[in-house]
Amino acid sequence: MSRFEGYIQDVIMWNKEMRAFLESEDVNKNTELWHRMDVFTDIMEGIKGPLNIEDLTEVQEQVEELHAGIEKYFAERQEVGGVYMHERSIAAGQHTLPPLPYAYNALEPYISEEIMRLHHDKHHKSYVDGLNKAEIKLEEARKTGDYALVKHWSRELAFHGSGHYLHTIFWSNMKPKGGGKPAGRLLKEIETYFGSFEAFKKHFNEAAKQVEGVGWAILVWSPRSSHLEILQSEKHMNLTQWDTIPLLVLDVWEHAYYLQYKNNRGDYVNNWWNLVNWKNVEERFQKASELKWKPY
Ligand SMILES: [Fe+2]
Repeated sequence: MSRFEGYIQDVIMWNKEMRAFLESEDVNKNTELWHRMDVFTDIMEGIKGPLNIEDLTEVQEQVEELHAGIEKYFAERQEVGGVYMHERSIAAGQHTLPPLPYAYNALEPYISEEIMRLHHDKHHKSYVDGLNKAEIKLEEARKTGDYALVKHWSRELAFHGSGHYLHTIFWSNMKPKGGGKPAGRLLKEIETYFGSFEAFKKHFNEAAKQVEGVGWAILVWSPRSSHLEILQSEKHMNLTQWDTIPLLVLDVWEHAYYLQYKNNRGDYVNNWWNLVNWKNVEERFQKASELKWKPY
């Protein structure tokens, strides 16, 4: 593929992402921004066959105009504050199962379609249902003042809540054709704290393989100490280190690998590295590391 064609492919992808973004923001279809986007889409769709220099110049001009338009949109949105923000909070009992960000068979051969269907549709779903139930029961308790079962529902809240949140992270921590190494600041922090990426991986592997019974290996950023850490979470509601934010999580419950790997958790853990979506981990780290607490 020529350099020009590569550029056009990137622009087409960018155009699609921007359209999806404007849709998600509910930006009024009559705005200047949408108009420009439509003109641009027409141009992109009109490009067929080999590219000539006029096409390319026109595309570049349109891209620059659109960039300016989108920057203006962001600036205006910041000025009006939360008006355009769509981050809703979830009312008690309203959690839903997030769809997998790829096909059920997309992680093969490292994790089979059968496991993914069972793991996502059955296990994760039951955490969502359990969390909703616990939240509703605790909401009822707040209304009636009857806290006779608060210990039970608090345990359920921790168990199913951790299950739901960790699985939600776990799915996006992976991708087909993942693996490799992280880049940028995350890599630097890993090298600073663990000595090297290999040393980090060895520590993470050992932590995952030696989780007592069921649980998770979790790479966290500690805003308090401003460094990364690797934790083992047994039964995922116990031994939780609060005040940390999961960045990279590995499910080592048997249901995550047993059908395919039997009791050979080690192979599953080793193979799992081929699926890591470091871009996603970097994004999580970027956001999480903006949190700053007073050091003690
Ligand atoms: Fe799981």
